[in-house]
Amino acid sequence: MDKCAQPFVNNKKRGDFMSTGRFVDLIQKKRQGQTLTEDEIKKMIEDYVEGAIPDYQMSAMLMAIFFQGMNREEATAMTLAMRDSGQVVDLSAIQGIKVDKHSTGGVGDKTTLILGPMVAACGVPVAKMSGRGLGFTGGTLDKLESIPGFQVGLSQEEFFAAVEKNGISVIGQTGDLAPADKLLYALRDVTATVESIPLIAASIMSKKLAAGSDKIVLDVTTGSGAFIKDLDQSKELARRMVDIGKGAGKETVALLTSMEEPLGRAVGNNLEVKEAIKTLQGQGPEDLEEVCLALAGMMLSLGKGISYEEGKKEAKEALDSGRAWQKFRAMVESQGGNLSYLDDPDLFPEAEVICQVQARERGYIFSMDTEKIGLASGILGAGRETKEDAVDFSAGILVEKKIGDWVEAGDCLATLCTGDLERAQKAEEVYLNAVKISGEKPEPVKLIVDIIA
Ligand code: URA
Repeated sequence: MDKCAQPFVNNKKRGDFMSTGRFVDLIQKKRQGQTLTEDEIKKMIEDYVEGAIPDYQMSAMLMAIFFQGMNREEATAMTLAMRDSGQVVDLSAIQGIKVDKHSTGGVGDKTTLILGPMVAACGVPVAKMSGRGLGFTGGTLDKLESIPGFQVGLSQEEFFAAVEKNGISVIGQTGDLAPADKLLYALRDVTATVESIPLIAASIMSKKLAAGSDKIVLDVTTGSGAFIKDLDQSKELARRMVDIGKGAGKETVALLTSMEEPLGRAVGNNLEVKEAIKTLQGQGPEDLEEVCLALAGMMLSLGKGISYEEGKKEAKEALDSGRAWQKFRAMVESQGGNLSYLDDPDLFPEAEVICQVQARERGYIFSMDTEKIGLASGILGAGRETKEDAVDFSAGILVEKKIGDWVEAGDCLATLCTGDLERAQKAEEVYLNAVKISGEKPEPVKLIVDIIA
């Protein structure tokens, strides 16, 4: 008998795939566009995690899903099976409704550092697990770790105690959240099956559901610096994730936010922390404040049962009164961060090489390829290509001109910060290619593109 067609040995408890018990038949079923049952999906994920389904068969299944898609029930079943492949965090020991926020990734996205303290200052606990940056997007943990002393590796007891005390704690994800996603993502990465909306939705939501919050606000970015660039596809991803959240019994709302240009002006770890500090002190860039208020407003709406508009008003009040800033300080202090850096951000180490990218022509900044700007920041040392790479906390970009700004030839478009002149030269070329200058004035960027509830 050919190896692929063998029945599984360890399928006694959970029943077989279809009537034959052969995974090859399940691949064929999906390839023909039929719907997989909840039991079939559950068994598929369990067997794959146990090593009973070889990568070559799972790759074929992923490709079948890529072309045939999954309906709402299938995507929900896949997400729940992935969630249940590892630890599901129990946050019930923390009083109150816990609302999590997840962004599908962006450039200059330091919103967690700002909206977390806003929400906590309004009485909704923030017990957040965040990730590190990879590729062209940054990660909240790297930003927080650029504050000397800041610890992201708290034990569960320390994490709960920090949330009880301050209303907020942000830590690294535990190793065992949705291990099925780690295996499947690695396989998708090498089989050209990453860009499938149901697979992306299941991947993201399995981790969010495993993180244990009661309700979820999704920041689905769209545009040139987003993981999904096309607006219709971004909406589809948002709808899928909202459906899955609801299917799992958790109220979920998605905001579609623009990544047509970097958010705020700072891209890179300690540069972004400095910008977050300014924003919490009421002197941040308008676009960053607007997106943070929208996301915080939605989190407060879900957490307190108030309207989105009321939520935004409460978040603004927390910002203007300085209560959000005090919450940020309390979080940093309780996680070991050195407060003198918050009080005097000039203490943050500066990059050794600082140079300007100058416009080569005059006109309006018409568009920005934000992904390329993220890549330029990576070249400067702010990001990592593989999980093992180290990041340079002081590297990155200060964006001086954004979409709609007028520039003369020779004007500074951006300031590059790095440890090495050669990196600066490479990043300058990438940055110049990322910015389109035109005589035509562009439409203003709409930041909150849509809300999907
Ligand atoms: N981010 C994830 O976590 N999963 C995907 O599939 C894509 C982006």
